[in-house]
Amino acid sequence: MTGTRACSLDDLWEGEMREVAVAGRRVLVVHAEGGHLSAFSALCPHQAFPLVNGMLEGGVLTCSAHLWQFDATTGMGINPTGCNLRRYAVSEQNGEVFVDLAAPTATRTES
Ligand code: FES
Repeated sequence: MTGTRACSLDDLWEGEMREVAVAGRRVLVVHAEGGHLSAFSALCPHQAFPLVNGMLEGGVLTCSAHLWQFDATTGMGINPTGCNLRRYAVSEQNGEVFVDLAAPTATRTES
């Protein structure tokens, strides 16, 4: 396991998301339906609204402010495309979720 403890799976049931502070940074941890865990920057890339106030349905994360949508497992922009979330490495061990801020995954921008 690498990274910093972000939360317990007891506090993040499948189908839920939660904003946590990891080393002073706002991180959104997502436990998508099907059990996939993801961690993203907690603020929307559009106008920096907190994504935790949005909706998580059917693997799609929708920002509450202007309804931009992202794939909840990859962070890739769905509507519009090319507005991907910054994604961090995440792991789970013994019911605890860890986020590695030092290993963000590439944010690909489509043209
Ligand atoms: Fe998220 Fe505008 S701030 S869609």
